[in-house]
Parts: sequence; C-alpha cells; structure tokens
Amino acid sequence: MDLEKLLADRLTPAFAAVAGGPVAPAVRRSAHADYQSDAALALARRLGRPPREIAAEVLGRAILGDLCAAAEVSGPGFINLTVADQALGAAVAGLVGDPRLGVPRVAEPETVLIDYSAPNVAKEMHVGHLRSTIIGDATARLLGWRGHRVIRANHLGDWGTPFGMLIEHLLDLGEADGAAELSVGDLDSFYRAARAKFDADEGFRARSRLRVVALQSGDERTVRLWRLLVGRSEGYFLGVYQALDVTLTERDFQGESRYQPMLGPVVEELDRLGLLRDSDGAACVFPPGSVGRDGEPLPLIVRKRDGGYGYPATDLAALRYRTGELGATRLLYVVGLPQRRHFEMVFAVAASAGWLPGAARAEHVGFGSVLGADGRMLRSRAGAPVKLADLLDEAVARATALARRKNPGLDAAEVAEVGRAVGIGAVKYADLATDRHRDYVFDWDRMLSLDGNTAPYLQYAYARIRSLFRRAGADGLPAAVEAVRVPLADPAERALVFALLGFAPVVVEVERTLEFHQLAGHLHRVAATFSAFYERCPVLRAEGAVREGRLMLCGLTARVLRQGLDLLGIRTPERM
Ligand code: ARG
Repeated sequence: MDLEKLLADRLTPAFAAVAGGPVAPAVRRSAHADYQSDAALALARRLGRPPREIAAEVLGRAILGDLCAAAEVSGPGFINLTVADQALGAAVAGLVGDPRLGVPRVAEPETVLIDYSAPNVAKEMHVGHLRSTIIGDATARLLGWRGHRVIRANHLGDWGTPFGMLIEHLLDLGEADGAAELSVGDLDSFYRAARAKFDADEGFRARSRLRVVALQSGDERTVRLWRLLVGRSEGYFLGVYQALDVTLTERDFQGESRYQPMLGPVVEELDRLGLLRDSDGAACVFPPGSVGRDGEPLPLIVRKRDGGYGYPATDLAALRYRTGELGATRLLYVVGLPQRRHFEMVFAVAASAGWLPGAARAEHVGFGSVLGADGRMLRSRAGAPVKLADLLDEAVARATALARRKNPGLDAAEVAEVGRAVGIGAVKYADLATDRHRDYVFDWDRMLSLDGNTAPYLQYAYARIRSLFRRAGADGLPAAVEAVRVPLADPAERALVFALLGFAPVVVEVERTLEFHQLAGHLHRVAATFSAFYERCPVLRAEGAVREGRLMLCGLTARVLRQGLDLLGIRTPERM
C-alpha cells in the first residue's frame, strides 16, 4: 500500500470539485510535514482565487480522517498532512507481509528489448561498454522484476569492412596463434597490428578487400575464419560479463551480422515508401527535424555509394525486426551520448516508415563518459585505453584487501566472496549512483569508501543488520507478524518507516525514467536513516513489544537494501 498514492487518491476528487476539472494533487514527502501538496498554489493562478482559500476548501471536502492525524493549510497555501500512526502501522505491516515490498508486478506486461553492452569483435571493450553493460543490466533486472518480458540484445559489432583485414591478419599469424592471442583478450594488439599492416602495405590492403567480398558472398573458408574471430571474442566478453556479475549470456549475442539478409529489403521498403533520396550516389533518408549546425537537413545514409550498408542501415533493420518479429513495444538503446544524433535519426526514420506502430516506442538511454582523476577520458598509466578485465581485477584486489583489514574474523573463502561482491559492487554503484547523463570521475578511494553514497556503505549496513539478527538468536522475524506493533514513538522510527515505504514509488518511477541514481540515492537514504535510528533506538537491549517492533524494522530495512541492491546488480554478503 503506497501511502503517497493513497493520500493523492483522497485529495484528487476534492481538488476536482474545487477546480471544476481534474488537478494533479502533487503529494510529496516534505521536511515540514509527513507529506505536502502544493497543488493549490498553481491552481490559484488559474482560478484567480487566494491559494489558502483553495487549500482550505480542498481540506474541507477531502476524506482524510482515517489516514491523517492532522491536515492543515500552511504558509502561502500548502496542504500539510501528518499520517495517523494507525495508518502508518498498517502500511508497514503490509510491507512486512509482502515478498515484493510494496512493488506490485505490472498489470500489463510489455515486451521490452534492451540493446546494451555491444562491444566490437577483435577490439577491447572500453569503459563506454562498461557503462552500457552496467546500466543495461540494472534495466533488465528492474524491468524483469516488475514483470515485463525482457529481451537482452547484445548488438555485437561483428560485421563490416574491418573483417577483411582481421581475417587476413589471422591467416598471417597462423590460425592457432592468432586465435590464442584473441582468447586471452589481447584484442587491441591484434586489431592494431592488422590496422598497421593495412595502412602500410598495398598488397595486404588488396587481399583484405578481396576477403571482405569473399565474406559477403559466403565463401566457406572465409566464413569459418570469421566465426573463429567472433567466437574467440565472444568467449573473452563472456569472461568479462562473468567477472562483472551481470545477467548477459551467450544466448543474448544478437550481433550486427544477423541483420545482413534484411538490409536489402529494408532499403527497398524505404524506397517503396518514397523516403529515399539520392545524394552523390548514396541512398539517404532525410528524417524530419534533423538539421545540422548550418541549418541544412542531415541525411541518414542507408546505402553507401559503393553499394555497401553501414551502421545506420543495420540499426534500421534491427529496429524493424525487433518490433515486427519480436513484438517489442519498448526499445531501449543503452549507448553513450555521442551517438544521440544517430539514434534520433534512426528513430525518426523508423517512425516515418511505420516500424514503430501503435504503442511501440524507442528510447536512447544515453550516458556520459568515465573520466580519470585528471578530468580527461580514463586511460591506463601507460596512456593506453584501460583494459576492462584489468580494471575489474584491480577492483576485486582492492576490496579484498579492505575486507581483510576491516574484519580479521573472516575466513579465506569469506574474504574472497566479500572482496568480489564489494569490488564489483563498488564499480557498478559508482556508475549507477550518478545521473547517467553526466560524466563521472573514476576514483578508487571514493567508490570503496565505507561512508558516503557507495556500495560498501550500503553492503555494510546490510551485513550489520544480519549480524544483529545472528546475535538476537533469530534468523528471521518474529513468527506472527500481525501481532507485532510497529514502533512509531521515536522520530527516528517514523523517519525509517517513511524511508522504507518510499522504496516502492522510487522503483516504479525508475521503471519509467531509467534514472538509477534515484534508486541508489533512495537506498542510501534508507541506510543513513537506519543508521540514525540504530544510534538512538536500542534494539537488542529493548524489551518486549518494543524489541520485537524494532527488530521488525531492522528486518524490513535489510530486505529493502538487499532487494534494491539486487535490482542494481549488486550482491549483499551476509558478513563483512
Ligand atoms: N558497437 C557499438 C559501439 O561500440 C555500439 C552499438 C550500440 N547499439 C546499437 N544498436 N547501435 O559503439
């Protein structure tokens, strides 16, 4: 039972009666009362009446007696609501008895396709792919938990002209040696060596071009070599996914190559629809609303002058397939902000072509860059792009050292488990806790700090509650939850209760906005509010109903932290 919504539902008809039409009651948590509505202020302008008068009239009509201990007009025309203890207790009891902590499954599940991670074959994954993987994974978890049908689409860069040179380089190295280099993740040196030969050697260039043609025409040996390159890279990426503890599997690879047979038909369809324009021999679509800095319309090139298809054509084919064949109605593209224009244009063309029918919509879930301490793009000490696998190893190593220092009582297996959960959790949380549109600075000390808005802080709060329960001699909660009275006498107890009740609305909001920093921020508030409660309100030293009630709040806090972190893809060790 969502109190905020309950209160809003009671104010809605009262506002409608006063305004003579629907008004959003704008009920929110407030520092001045449990909840506050400022809707009368906005309405006053519209009705030309004093806001306090409107607020008073709304309160006169709204039925709030069972929910509120006090409801009054304050300041220029706010409505301040103080929730009655009984209603608050009932709401908390509802949460305790609900395995979903107040977050219902959606009534009408959608098919949601999430395009994320998407590294490129025979190239190192960079931090942009890291962000995409982390944000995409959280998206898949949260939408899946809400009950949507989630399709994970790892739009691997596994096709295109570079494969001519990559295959030729593989042949030069010898299949066995080349494949071995790729398997250990030496992707960048492989790619760079191929590139260097391509730039320097006319003969190699010619061979590479022929090889692309052979690949496109399905030459058996060439296709086998291409598969080898793709397979080895996939193996390497899967290793990173495992280290990163994300839900992507080999079944989710849906690389660009899959859309090759659809490219011709897609361009033909655009032509039939009268959307194609010729520009210097290239087939283009000029999506409405796309103009460059100079005010000239910008084209999306769907077939190049040489007859080849590129990135935009592949994305159009993929989109058409995703709505048309897979039946997705919400398409999420978790890709860095530099590709914003590309997606705007692809989505606009798809809309004009009728590939986003009915409720179907596509959304670019963009994100900023990861910066080093110097404020520039994150690089390794040697100045090369950081290798993702190394970065994750370092995270785990640092967190393992931290775990050992912090709790010498942990045995070797526990230290390893905590190190992994905390190290990987810290990297993910640092990413998810900042507004994804912004760049963020990758800072080991900050992300591994035990206080602040960090994974270790939240994980520690969880472990602390679990240890409390071990000491209490109860593994779970008192058996008859209905009989436990929710303690509300202390303001710290009330504050904790509101934080716990706030979990559900945040999850529902993030399902829409995919702004995971809202969820992270809320979990941090839950942990901080718990900490304040725990300092003021003794739990194990309390007695009788108070002890039981407080233990219940502790248990609920642990469940909210665990569930919330799980939605972010972060583990919660039982001890730390
Ligand atoms: N492989 C691309 C890159 O590394 C990202 C692909 C994103 N997804 C898409 N449907 N275009 O930049």
